[in-house]
Amino acid sequence: MPRRIIRNWRPIKGQPLTELDKKILSIQNKGHIVPTRELIKTPEQIEGIRQSGVINTGVLDYVESHIRAGISTAEIDRWVYEYTIDHGATPAPLNYEGFPKSVCTSVNEEVCHGIPSEECILEEGDIINVDVSTIYNGYYSDASRMFMIGKVSPEMEKLVRVTYECLVLGMQAAKPFGFVGDIGNAIQRHAEKNGFSVVRDLCGHGVGLEFHEEPEVLHFGRKGTGMLLVPGMVFTIEPMINMGTHEVFIDEDNGWTVITEDELPSAQWEHTFVMTEKGLEILTR
Ligand code: MF3
Ligand code: CO
Repeated sequence: MPRRIIRNWRPIKGQPLTELDKKILSIQNKGHIVPTRELIKTPEQIEGIRQSGVINTGVLDYVESHIRAGISTAEIDRWVYEYTIDHGATPAPLNYEGFPKSVCTSVNEEVCHGIPSEECILEEGDIINVDVSTIYNGYYSDASRMFMIGKVSPEMEKLVRVTYECLVLGMQAAKPFGFVGDIGNAIQRHAEKNGFSVVRDLCGHGVGLEFHEEPEVLHFGRKGTGMLLVPGMVFTIEPMINMGTHEVFIDEDNGWTVITEDELPSAQWEHTFVMTEKGLEILTR
């Protein structure tokens, strides 16, 4: 049965087709999913997201230079809140769909959406993901880093390193007029080659005018599938890679925190990117 064509890209009434229109319409007519026009950011919007990203990076740099054994994750939350407000911005997680804090802090077997707490004290040997998202002048940026507290087991160190490599390989696989599936394919290959697994239940996402926009950026899958990548699209890549099973569950106590089913460690790195004529550019460097 022929696949029904989803007409995300439509000619503008009364205007002649541009070369870009013709290119995207022909890809759409072959049955591929293409973006809507709204997903192509203007240079002004990209500049706004870039400025948001500068503050977001400042937050992560601040965390990086202060994080250590003995502090609580609630302390990290205070750093993020204060740095962000001091720079005229807003922490995007705060009150987002009821999220109670300004940042996600996910330790060891926590995959993502860990809630900062006075009770959670960082110890030597822990790995932690700090996921920071910023709203500045209405523009959203989103990035996360892993931190290793003191000396970490070689296996956990490898998990953190391989996950970072997955982000870089995913970024390099994303080409203008390629497909979102090219990214996930590169990430899954590298993770599984190293004996790790890719979390399926959460993904990267369009970002910029809202916290979470289209497309969904899966961190696994086949080349040539998913949405067409067009210059001007802004999205995150944020692979969550597990040491053991890819299966996860949500902590019933808080309804947020995603934890590995086998309680083995998980790692994640994230950047916000803009697609250009030459490939991805990082907006949260
Ligand atoms: N920062 C996460 C992401 O990468 C989203 C966190 S939503 C929150 O998409 F509510 F938990 F903050
Ligand atoms: Co994100």
